[in-house]
Formats: sequence, C-alpha cells, structure tokens
Amino acid sequence: MNTSPKLVVANWKSNLNWHEAQEWAKAFSQHKKHPHTYVVCPPTPLLGALQAGVNSDFLLGVQDLSPFESGAYTGAVSAPNLSGLNVSYVLLGHSERRKYFGETSQTVAQKAEVALAHNLTPIICVDAEDFSHQHSALSHLDASKIVWAYEPVHAISTFGGQEDPIEVTIKNIAKLRDLTGATKIIYGGSISPENSLAYLQAPEIDGVLVGAKSLQPELFAQL
Ligand code: PGA
Repeated sequence: MNTSPKLVVANWKSNLNWHEAQEWAKAFSQHKKHPHTYVVCPPTPLLGALQAGVNSDFLLGVQDLSPFESGAYTGAVSAPNLSGLNVSYVLLGHSERRKYFGETSQTVAQKAEVALAHNLTPIICVDAEDFSHQHSALSHLDASKIVWAYEPVHAISTFGGQEDPIEVTIKNIAKLRDLTGATKIIYGGSISPENSLAYLQAPEIDGVLVGAKSLQPELFAQL
C-alpha cells in the first residue's frame, strides 16, 4: 500500500489576478490542515505573486509548457523561462488544451520530454475513453518520473460534469497503472470538500486534481 502523502493539485485555469493570488495564498496558509503535498498551478504570470508560500505551504506548477527550448517562439513560455520561479510541476494534456488549443498527444509527448530535461515533473492528463490511444504517443517516456492524472472529460465541472463513482475510478486507475507502469496516478473531475475524502483515502489513488474548488482557498484547504 502506498503511504506517501497524497498529491493535491490546484488548477486555477485562466482565473484570478496578482492581488487575488496573494490573498489566496494568505488564506490557504491560515486554513490548511492536512499533511498532503499541495501543488498550485496558477496562470503563469501569477507565479511571482505566490513565491512567499512556496515550500512552506505548497509547491508550484504551470498549466502548459512550450514544446521548444528557448528561442524564437513568440508567445510560448519555455522551461528555461521558468528558472528562478520555483516551479516543480507542469500540467500537460489537459482536456481543455486538447479541445480549445488543438493539443495532440504527440505535442504532449514533446512537452513532457522538455519538462523532464529541465527537472519539471509532468502531470499528464488522460481521459477515460481514450487513454490507451493517448498513452501510445507517450509510452517511451520514463513512467516513474511522471504523474498521470486520470481525468474523465465527462467528470469535469466546467463541462457540466459530476465526479466519477469511486469504484469506476479505482478500476480505471488500475487499468492505467497496468498500461503505463505508472507509480503515481491522481484523479480529477468535480472534486469538492464533500467528496474528496473517499478519493484521498483510497490506497489505489495517489491524489486529486482540482479545478473550480481550488479557486476558493478555504475550500481547497479542506481537501
Ligand atoms: P473541476 O476541474 O475540478 O472543476 O472539475 C478539474 C480540471 O479541469 O482539472
């Protein structure tokens, strides 16, 4: 049984501004009560606003990464650009990136390679229906250095979803573990203080990825 601390990841998506991020960090620090490893993935320009809480209260991640190193790639944030900002994780392949930005599993693989080369841990999101297809482009990556996020699109709150039943989650995570050889797999989709305990107590699930409910520090701190 895996007894390491659970990974609880906040995905702020394109929400909050500098001032709100600083207020969030203060409130989170006051309310936090569990010994989880918390990772906050704000919009990239807000990384600076969260530096005071890094390591003491949470770790930092970004929501995307350029598939290229530094260079002439207008608009892209490369791994070297993040140096000095205490970033340790990068979310990749989120279904919103796949849906709205045309991200493919091949691009996700390229980004993951860059992330690993710069000691950033990729958190790679895969869907329930399609994970063997999505994984085929990623099978060459070192599974032990990746966190997989099993995130069924139908469960994401902003797509009108509801959380996946815990038994279904456990079954699909076991399949994903067989397929990927993954050491860490977290679940994402409509996690809230009301339902998080079941997911965080299950030994088969290594943590949770939280969207909407991560925007409110008092709620996120209860998970
Ligand atoms: P949700 O989002 O918690 O609002 O469902 C999860 C995600 O999209 O990562």
